[in-house]
Amino acid sequence: MLALSVIGILSAVISVHGNGQIQSEFGRPVQQLQSTGAPWPQPQTMTSATVTFPLADPSTFRIYQKSQTLCPVLDQAFARYFNIIFFGTPEMSEEEKLMKLRDMRQHGRFWNASLHGKNLVALMGLSVNISDCSEMFPSLESSENYTLDVSEPFASLTAHSQWGALRGLETFSQLVYESSLAMLVVNKTSITDFPRFAHRGFLVDTSRHFLPMDILLQFLDAMAYNKLNVFHWHIVDDQSFPYQSKEFPYMSQKGAYSPHYVYSQSDVQRVISYARDRGIRVVPEFDTPGHTQSWGSVKGLLTPCEDKSGKPTGDYGPINPILNSTYAFLKPFFQEIFKVFPDSFIHVGGDEVSFDCWKSNKDIQNFMAKMGYGQNYSKLEAYYEKRFLGIVEDLLAKPIVWQEVVDNGVQVNLETVVHVWKQPWQSELHNVTKKGYKALLSTPWYLNLAGNPYGQPWRQIYDIEPLKFTGTAAQKALVFGGEACMWGEYVDATNVIQRSWPRGCAVAERLWSAENVRDVNEAASRLAEQRCRMVRRGLKAEPVTGPGFCEFPGSN
Ligand SMILES: *[C@@H]1O[C@H](CO)[C@@H](O)[C@H](O)[C@H]1NC(C)=O
Ligand SMILES: *[C@@H]1O[C@H](CO)[C@@H](O)[C@H](O)[C@H]1NC(C)=O
Ligand SMILES: *[C@@H]1O[C@H](CO)[C@@H](O)[C@H](O)[C@H]1NC(C)=O
Ligand SMILES: *[C@@H]1O[C@H](CO)[C@@H](O)[C@H](O)[C@H]1NC(C)=O
Ligand SMILES: *[C@@H]1O[C@H](CO)[C@@H](O)[C@H](O)[C@H]1NC(C)=O
Ligand SMILES: *[C@@H]1O[C@H](CO)[C@@H](O)[C@H](O)[C@H]1NC(C)=O
Ligand SMILES: *[C@@H]1O[C@H](CO)[C@@H](O)[C@H](O)[C@H]1NC(C)=O
Repeated sequence: MLALSVIGILSAVISVHGNGQIQSEFGRPVQQLQSTGAPWPQPQTMTSATVTFPLADPSTFRIYQKSQTLCPVLDQAFARYFNIIFFGTPEMSEEEKLMKLRDMRQHGRFWNASLHGKNLVALMGLSVNISDCSEMFPSLESSENYTLDVSEPFASLTAHSQWGALRGLETFSQLVYESSLAMLVVNKTSITDFPRFAHRGFLVDTSRHFLPMDILLQFLDAMAYNKLNVFHWHIVDDQSFPYQSKEFPYMSQKGAYSPHYVYSQSDVQRVISYARDRGIRVVPEFDTPGHTQSWGSVKGLLTPCEDKSGKPTGDYGPINPILNSTYAFLKPFFQEIFKVFPDSFIHVGGDEVSFDCWKSNKDIQNFMAKMGYGQNYSKLEAYYEKRFLGIVEDLLAKPIVWQEVVDNGVQVNLETVVHVWKQPWQSELHNVTKKGYKALLSTPWYLNLAGNPYGQPWRQIYDIEPLKFTGTAAQKALVFGGEACMWGEYVDATNVIQRSWPRGCAVAERLWSAENVRDVNEAASRLAEQRCRMVRRGLKAEPVTGPGFCEFPGSN
């Protein structure tokens, strides 16, 4: 057995005993907490045998759709996973592929009739049976269930939807490993799998630092490798407005860091379709009334702050809630957003609304008096949210709000989703669900904050049990998922992938796998393998489980 000692913050001191131990050339013990062919996240049920099948030569190995239903997403997915299964990485030029194939054949990496004869049975391919491909885009209601049976001559994958098939393809690709003879093999395995939570997200912030398209697409790849299914695109904020609006193009012209740091409409569509092809929803966030400094090009939208004598200071505060022109702008703006993004949810923010500027403004003071709000600015915030959420609901969009909206006493529609991000989250989840709201959890999964890397912070991230709060079964049923968050103050294209991965994998397993999958030491060996897998697939995921190495060349 593997024994792991984690000593406080200096937990890099790891000792491995027994059959898990290997030695480097100079005799130093090297951590070998790495599984082979183990899936991440852990499937709901999985039985595997010690029988292994070598993969047939790629010239004969087939991934194909058995059912008649035409699933447009799958052709591409088959090609991607074919490359991943045989070459470890999704993208590869034909030339590179041929070279690699020649090399692999020479080294007997596949089953070859003339080499291995008839007494070794090969796996000839994977057949995929899907009952329903009618959904153009994944949604909260989509089925991601699948069953996978790996047995010769063909492995078989059955799923209700193409999204489930994508999850099953990912699992199958993870079961393939190199045997001690350096052949590509897969154990006889039977899996029935489905997600524990329907909403498994990752928040990415493209306002504090702009993230170029190739990084966003890499991020989506990483999410797909971990069965995460919601890309929460915190696209704009105080610092910059990179979204190029159709109706209001001046907003990014004035509000982006530079004309190079803008997502055009076609960029946005590319993100949406790339995500769709991987079974990932894109939920955009346009946070109001705070966090809107970069929206200042919209005339009269932001509150002018005033000094004691009533003169404008030149600074602006949150969106001005007392003007009808505010709502006359918000309506067509959110109409556009709801048209551009196909998901039925929009994240509308509502966090950290500072009242200082509102308090300084004479017109707002008069409005407060007229409305009988006294000095309670939460009432003004509530007034804003009520009118604004009315607009969103008229579009038939489903709003997600940060927790402050309900903390500050706004009576919102019960369909509104409350996103919990503050401590103590257990008490907050209790309160929010007691009021009957649906909830998402992020507080313990702010990966931008998570700890000293010398203390393996992924362990605390992994250890969280989202339903461990006081509440009835009905309250717990209202928590339908969570999100990892990577806020953008200190990340850009140079480091966002390695800051987020593989620690994001810990959140992904928590949200997908069964509640009782929580042995952090067992998880460590699979996480080490998953991380190497991601590196091999071209992602710069950092080492998080301590000393060790990845098997394939060029990965360290
Ligand atoms: C897969 O098969 C190999 C070789 O028989 C065996 O050592 C290994 O334990 C098996 N793995 C699983 C997960 O069953
Ligand atoms: C696909 O799966 C369904 C449901 O399990 C089954 O009824 C059907 O016969 C299968 N189709 C094929 C072509 O195997
Ligand atoms: C199978 O092995 C033989 C002998 O090494 C080799 O000549 C042949 O090209 C191989 N076939 C394939 C499809 O790799
Ligand atoms: C998916 O699996 C879960 C758990 O077994 C089940 O409750 C649900 O009905 C399944 N959904 C579909 C569409 O098969
Ligand atoms: C602002 O809109 C409200 C509600 O539609 C309306 O009652 C009010 O008269 C409007 N105020 C002005 C100044 O137009
Ligand atoms: C302020 O208003 C909010 C919303 O109506 C309410 O929940 C809260 O209790 C009020 N606070 C005070 C101090 O009256
Ligand atoms: C939850 O509600 C209780 C009772 O009103 C309150 O004491 C507690 O502070 C609330 N928790 C949070 C996180 O706001």
